[in-house]
Amino acid sequence: MPDVRDSFRDVAANYSRSTFHTSTVRLQEVVDLARPEPGDLALDVATGTGNTAFALAPRVRRVVGLDLTREMLNEARRIAAQRSIANVDWVIGDAEHLPFQDDTFDVYVVRAAPHHFADVDAFLREAHRVLRPGRDAAFVDCAPPLPARDVLHEVEMRRDPSHIMSLTVEEWVARLERAGFEVESAYARELDWNFQDWMGNMAVRPELAEELAGVIESAEGEARTQLHPERRDGKLWHAYWHALIRAHKRA
Ligand SMILES: C[S@@+](CC[C@H](N)C(=O)[O-])C[C@H]1O[C@@H](n2cnc3c(N)ncnc32)[C@H](O)[C@@H]1O
Repeated sequence: MPDVRDSFRDVAANYSRSTFHTSTVRLQEVVDLARPEPGDLALDVATGTGNTAFALAPRVRRVVGLDLTREMLNEARRIAAQRSIANVDWVIGDAEHLPFQDDTFDVYVVRAAPHHFADVDAFLREAHRVLRPGRDAAFVDCAPPLPARDVLHEVEMRRDPSHIMSLTVEEWVARLERAGFEVESAYARELDWNFQDWMGNMAVRPELAEELAGVIESAEGEARTQLHPERRDGKLWHAYWHALIRAHKRA
């Protein structure tokens, strides 16, 4: 199985510039979902370059940003220093084996990363374990509807070999309930997706990017209707979806 760190170590700086990852609208969305309170201790799993942790920081007492890839955390540290953000700690670790005690965090957040996790059930069990009873977790990840997922799966795997699987909202709900969560809200929202920006985050070679654009543009039937690929000024745009889920740990 590919090591996710091989995918991210050389492109870390791209994630602190990425249009999607740094968008204030998209960050507000995850903050609204997580509902942090001023005295909270929050955990942002697979924090990458810390975008979500930085959005939570002014709204809570302290944030822990955890990630497997040292270079992503180094970029997060650099930005924290640049912006004088002092209430975030950075921890190297694995979402599937969290280095924290039970019932530690008031808020658990993970965004744009679970599609890399090999063992989704282990990651969700860990999320449930470290969250304090009576509090909520927010999950945001790519979640294309079937059959668009089949088309995007090929593109995702070739763009980034550490991609494993995007779950549908229904699959998310089933897994969360199995891990002991009570799902409070779960839906997918569609974005108008800039294919070139998406490829750029992972520094995909232009020839491969053109091939992958071809995969999307040659989609047929329902997948095509869902993806509605379109060239604007020669650049490919298509639909892309994320699941936005709030789940509760019973008191
Ligand atoms: C797209 S980036 C994360 C973006 C970030 N959450 C944000 O909101 O901007 C995906 C991150 O997941 C991390 N990652 C992948 N698998 C992981 C795991 N099992 N445990 C912790 N981090 C992981 C990668 O190192 C990478 O930094």
